[in-house]
Amino acid sequence: MSFSAVDVIRVKRDGGGLSDAQIDWVVDAYTKGVVADEQMSALAMAILLRGMNDHEIARWTAAMIASGERLDLSSVPRPTVDKHSTGGVGDKITLALTPLVAACGAAVPQLSGRGLGHTGGTLDKLESIPGWRAALSNEEFAAQLRDIGAAICQAGLGLAPADRKLYALRDVTGTVESIPLIASSIMSKKIAEGTGALVLDVKVGSGAFMKSVDHARELARTMVELGRAHGVTTVALLTDMNTPLGRTIGNAVEVQEAVDVLAGGGPDDVVELTVVLAREMLGAVGLDDIDPAQVLAQGKAMDTWRAMIRAQGGDPDAPLPAATETEFVRAPVNGVVESVDAMGIGLAAWRLGAGRARKEDPVSAAAGVVLHKRPGERVSAGDVVAELRADDPARVPAALELATAAVVIDTLPLPGRPLIIDRIG
Ligand code: URA
Repeated sequence: MSFSAVDVIRVKRDGGGLSDAQIDWVVDAYTKGVVADEQMSALAMAILLRGMNDHEIARWTAAMIASGERLDLSSVPRPTVDKHSTGGVGDKITLALTPLVAACGAAVPQLSGRGLGHTGGTLDKLESIPGWRAALSNEEFAAQLRDIGAAICQAGLGLAPADRKLYALRDVTGTVESIPLIASSIMSKKIAEGTGALVLDVKVGSGAFMKSVDHARELARTMVELGRAHGVTTVALLTDMNTPLGRTIGNAVEVQEAVDVLAGGGPDDVVELTVVLAREMLGAVGLDDIDPAQVLAQGKAMDTWRAMIRAQGGDPDAPLPAATETEFVRAPVNGVVESVDAMGIGLAAWRLGAGRARKEDPVSAAAGVVLHKRPGERVSAGDVVAELRADDPARVPAALELATAAVVIDTLPLPGRPLIIDRIG
């Protein structure tokens, strides 16, 4: 059935509901170039302003999945479970979590992305490991899941091509921040990836897409419903993103911190979130009798990490790239670190070269921020609170200004915020 794009836009502009046939047609016609970018921009804006009901969101997601291939992981003998984070600052959880859950007996088919703006991307982080490659064919991906149980790689071009086109358009038309569009975008890719179960880490706070708990809960609820409607066991955690996760923000620095976690160390919040998410993932595939904290302590996850990195050409023993420029943010007074703003530090890391402004920009492996002090820790005037690293000295002054403004020191500590805010599932 064929429609007029203008009629479809008018229905949503005037607050109506789109029919199944209209949704199927417009997503397919846009993917094929029959509906023009300017028409889809208008429709995306109408959706952002008017919303979509649950049935429309489910149909829109199904149409995006149908625009490409759905991976078949039936040759993988273990139960499959993946994790998706909606994006944060210092969020290196995937790096240690993927081998940990594999070491516990599940297979983790992790298709990841690159960073854009202030949030980092898992592939950019892993590419700081000499030799590591992000691209795997569908056959290599399935083989690695069979052999090791863990693979982190970039999504092939065949997966939800409608989303790839639409996401790029939303990025330049002010239509990213729509819960129906975000939920359908994330879930179409995760469902097409072929995972049997999914745990969502929905970030809330200054460094996240979702600034309020209510919006984050609504996004989580929508995604959990979409997963279930497509036969994927899905649960979501709402987690704090007002403060960066851990002590490192960047690429190589985050890999090093994840390796520290695998070696039994690392910051408390990174270890806590890794173990909590691992428990959820194992529970989702019926492996609740395995204790991920114990598996981590036994060093088994480190063995899986090394095998996973080697399988993709990386050398887990090679030194990570080091920066040529270093600058420090120092405490101006004696006191306690009251807060370290995730958005400010994310932007500082981005300015230092750890992130990109446009999709095609390169990133610096060595650039980033290392927090020497976290909220609640005491400082004396002159102590280093944060260390900035870059390859290019011209990048340092703007980052120093942002990082300095992100750190608040007071005489009394604020009560700590819980890392895990809610669970939906
Ligand atoms: N991540 C996605 O994949 N899609 C969105 O719309 C937002 C974040």
